[in-house]
Amino acid sequence: MEKLPANLFGLLTCVLALVLSSVSAVTDDPQDKQVYIVYMGSLPSGLEYRPMSHHMNILQEITGESSINGRLVRSYKRSFNGFAAWLSEPERQRIAEMEGVVSVFRSKKLKLQTTASWDFMGLKEGKNTKRNLTVESDTIVGVIDTGIWPESESFSDKGFGPPPSKWKGVCSGGKNFTCNNKVIGARDYEGEGTRDLDGHGSHTSSIVAGNAVAGASFFGIGNGTARGGVPAARIAAYKCCDSTGCNSDAILSAFDDAIADGVDLISISVGGVAIRYDEDTTAIGAFHAMARGILTVNSAGNEGPNPNSVGSVAPWILTVGASTTNREFLTEVVIQNGKTLGRSVNSFDLEGKNYPLVYARSNVKGKILVSRELVSSDVAVATIIKDNRNFAIINSHPLSALSPDDFEFLVSYVNSTKSRQGTVLKTETDFNQKAPKIASFSSRGPNPIAVDLLKPDITAPGVEILAAYSPLGSPSGERDQRHVKYSVISGTSMSCPHVAGVAAYIRTFHPDWSPAAIQSAIMTTAWSMNASETGVASTEFAYGAGHVDPIAALNPGLVYELDKADHITFLCGLNYTSKALKLITGEAVTCTGNTLPRNLNYPSMSAKLSKTNSSFTVTFNRTVTNVGTPNSTYKPKIVLNHGTKLSVEVSPNVLFMKSVKEKQSFTVTVSGSNIDPELPSSASLIWSDGTHKVRSPIVVYTDVSQ
Ligand SMILES: *[C@@H]1O[C@H](CO)[C@@H](O)[C@H](O)[C@H]1NC(C)=O
Ligand SMILES: *[C@@H]1O[C@H](CO)[C@@H](O)[C@H](O)[C@H]1NC(C)=O
Ligand SMILES: *[C@@H]1O[C@H](CO)[C@@H](O)[C@H](O)[C@H]1NC(C)=O
Ligand SMILES: *[C@@H]1O[C@H](CO)[C@@H](O)[C@H](O)[C@H]1NC(C)=O
Ligand SMILES: *[C@@H]1O[C@H](CO)[C@@H](O)[C@H](O)[C@H]1NC(C)=O
Ligand SMILES: *[C@@H]1O[C@H](CO)[C@@H](O)[C@H](O)[C@H]1NC(C)=O
Ligand SMILES: *[C@@H]1O[C@H](CO)[C@@H](O)[C@H](O)[C@H]1NC(C)=O
Ligand SMILES: *[C@@H]1O[C@H](CO)[C@@H](O)[C@H](O)[C@H]1NC(C)=O
Ligand SMILES: *[C@@H]1O[C@H](CO)[C@@H](O)[C@H](O)[C@H]1NC(C)=O
Repeated sequence: MEKLPANLFGLLTCVLALVLSSVSAVTDDPQDKQVYIVYMGSLPSGLEYRPMSHHMNILQEITGESSINGRLVRSYKRSFNGFAAWLSEPERQRIAEMEGVVSVFRSKKLKLQTTASWDFMGLKEGKNTKRNLTVESDTIVGVIDTGIWPESESFSDKGFGPPPSKWKGVCSGGKNFTCNNKVIGARDYEGEGTRDLDGHGSHTSSIVAGNAVAGASFFGIGNGTARGGVPAARIAAYKCCDSTGCNSDAILSAFDDAIADGVDLISISVGGVAIRYDEDTTAIGAFHAMARGILTVNSAGNEGPNPNSVGSVAPWILTVGASTTNREFLTEVVIQNGKTLGRSVNSFDLEGKNYPLVYARSNVKGKILVSRELVSSDVAVATIIKDNRNFAIINSHPLSALSPDDFEFLVSYVNSTKSRQGTVLKTETDFNQKAPKIASFSSRGPNPIAVDLLKPDITAPGVEILAAYSPLGSPSGERDQRHVKYSVISGTSMSCPHVAGVAAYIRTFHPDWSPAAIQSAIMTTAWSMNASETGVASTEFAYGAGHVDPIAALNPGLVYELDKADHITFLCGLNYTSKALKLITGEAVTCTGNTLPRNLNYPSMSAKLSKTNSSFTVTFNRTVTNVGTPNSTYKPKIVLNHGTKLSVEVSPNVLFMKSVKEKQSFTVTVSGSNIDPELPSSASLIWSDGTHKVRSPIVVYTDVSQ
C-alpha cells in the first residue's frame, strides 16, 4: 500500500495527495496549445490554503470551461506553489496578468547527458576507506532521471534496514514497480511508471549510491567491482525523462517533491543550453533545495569543446565537467603487416579470422567495411570508422574507431592493392597514463549568463564508465538487440553522479555543513589540472577548480560560505528585476546596495574584462570560515599558470583563525595589461596553514568566445 507523505504541510498534503491521484498527466497534444509553467512562488503558510483547488480555479476562470480535465499537467504544491497546464496563447497572456502569478513560461525539452573510477579518485573499496556507515545508511540521494531498475544487484537491499525515519516520500513507481530498503522512493512524472526503460537513470543512480557488485562487466569488458560513492546510502528515483529527453515542468515537480520527501542531496544529469536563471527550472528548483540545505549537483553538458557551451550556470548548483580515468578501452585492428589501436567497446570476437577490407559501401557482405562514418550495415562482418572523439562507443556490430591519422593510413593501405585483409579484435582494457584529461564533449565556459562566475566548477570521471543499466534499454540504440545489466557510457551525465557521491560522502562526516560548504570543500581540494594544449578547450573553462578528490575534500581547512541572502545579492548585482527575483526565490525581494557579482563569496574567482582595457585592475572580496583546527595561521601563495602575465596581491597576507567557525575576510587584487585575447589568464590562490591547501582558481578573460 502506498504510504501518504506526512511532510511539512502535514494534513494539507495528505488531502491533496488524494486529489492529485485523480489528475493524471496529459498525453494528447492540442495543436494550438502548449504546456506552460505557471509559477506562483512560495507556498502561502496556513492550513486553509489549498494549492490544487486554487490551481484548478485559476484554470477554470481562464479557460471558461467547467471541466478542465486534461488541461492541468501537474501541480507544484509541496515546496513551492504553481502548476503546469496546456494553454493557448491568449490564455497564457490572461493568466500572466492574474494576481499571485509570478511568471508563465514554456515547458522545454531538456537533454540527458552519460568502476574503476572510484579507485582512480582515491576512494578505495572496503576497509581502505574511512566511512561512517551509520550516517551513510541514513543518507538519501534523490536522482532526477529516466527512473531506475530496482531489481539490479546494484540496488539490492540485502543488509539494509528500513528507510531512515526522516523519509517522507512514497513508492509510487506504477504497476510492477516495487521499492525496497535501498530504492526507498519512486515517483513518476511521465505516466509510464518509474521503471527505467532506457538505462540512463539506473546508470547514474548506481554511480552515486549503487552497491558494490563484483564481476560486473559488459560481456567481460571492464570486468571488476562496480560500486557507487556511497554504497550504504538510499536512493529515491524521480522519473522526469525518457530516452527522448526530459520535460522541464516535470523537473520542477521532481524538485518540489524531493525537497519535501526529505532527500539529503539531488543529482540531476540533465540540461540544455544556458538560460537566464528565472527561466531555468533546474536553477529554480535547485534554489529552493539550497534554501532547505540540500545541494544540487548537475552535469555541465555535452556540447563541448565550443566555448560558452556550459548549460548549468547557477552558483547554488555544483556543475560538473567530464574527464578520463586511467582505464581506457582499446580495440585493435590487425592488418597483414601490423596493427593499429582504435577505440570502441567491442564485445564481439571474430576469433582472429581475417576478412577482406573494403573502402566502399556496396558489396560489403562478408567483408570489413572501412568507412569515414558509421553507416548501418548488418551484412558487413565489422566496421572500421574514423573518429576523433576521445571516448569509446558501443555498436550493435563489431566496430573499431581509428584516429584520423591511423584511419587515413588504413585507407591508403586498403586502396593500394586489392584483396587486403584484416580483422578487428575484442576490446581490451588499457592503462591510460595521461588521465585525467578533459573530454572533448564536456561543455565549456565562459558562463554565458553570469560572465564573472566561473563554470563548470569541477571535473570528474565521465568517460567510458561501467555502471548498472536497464535490461530493457539498448546498449547502443534500436538496432542493438542485446540486453545487459551493466553498460559503458560516457558523458557529463556520468561525472555528475560521481561528484554527487562525493558530496554525499562528505556529508556523512559533516552533517551540519551547508550546501555551499560542501561545494567549497570539493572545489578547493581538487587536483590541479593543466591549463595547456588546445586553447580554451583545456583551461579552467573546461575543468573549473580541477579534478575532484574525495578524501582531501573531507578536510578542507577553510570553506567559502554562502547562504540564500548571498545568492540574492548576487542576483541583484546581475540587475535582475524584482519580478525575476521573485520567480527564482519564490518571495518578494528588495535589492539594496549594488554589489558586484564577482564579489559573491564563491570558491573560484573570475572576471570578464572589457576588450578595450589594455591595463586593468580587478578586485575580489572573499570571506573564509575555519572548519579545520583552532589557532591556525594561513598564508597565501599565488601560482601563475603557464604563460600568464598577471600581478596578484592578497590583503591581508596572513589570516589567523583562533577558533573553529571563525570567519576572516580578504581582498584579491589582480592587475595586468594586454592579456592574451584568445585565452583566459589564470592563476591559483592557495591558502595554507602547513596542513591544508585551500586552492581557488583566479581567471580573467576578454571575449575568448568571439
Ligand atoms: C558516525 O557519526 C555519528 C554522528 O555524527 C557519531 O555519533 C558516530 O560516533 C560516528 N561513528 C563513527 C564510527 O565514526
Ligand atoms: C515487470 O518487471 C520485471 C522485472 O522485475 C520485468 O522483467 C517485466 O518485463 C515487467 N513487466 C512488465 C509488464 O512491465
Ligand atoms: C570477471 O572476473 C571474475 C574474477 O576474476 C571471473 O570469475 C569472471 O568469470 C569474470 N567475468 C567475465 C564475464 O569475464
Ligand atoms: C581510396 O579509394 C577511394 C575510392 O576509390 C577514393 O575515393 C579515395 O580517395 C582513395 N583514398 C586514398 C587515400 O587513396
Ligand atoms: C602539467 O604539464 C607539465 C608539462 O607538461 C608537467 O610537467 C606537469 O606535471 C603537469 N601538471 C599536472 C598537474 O598534470
Ligand atoms: C547593472 O546595472 C549597473 C547600473 O546601471 C551597471 O553599472 C552594471 O554594469 C549592470 N550589471 C550587469 C551585470 O549588467
Ligand atoms: C579598465 O581599466 C580601468 C583603469 O585601469 C579600471 O578602472 C576598470 O575597472 C577596468 N575595467 C575592467 C572591466 O577591467
Ligand atoms: C572589499 O574589501 C575592501 C577591503 O576590505 C573594502 O574596502 C570594500 O568595501 C569591499 N567591497 C565590497 C563590495 O564588499
Ligand atoms: C589557542 O591559543 C591560545 C593562546 O595561545 C590558547 O589559550 C588556547 O588554548 C588555544 N586554543 C586551542 C583550542 O588550542
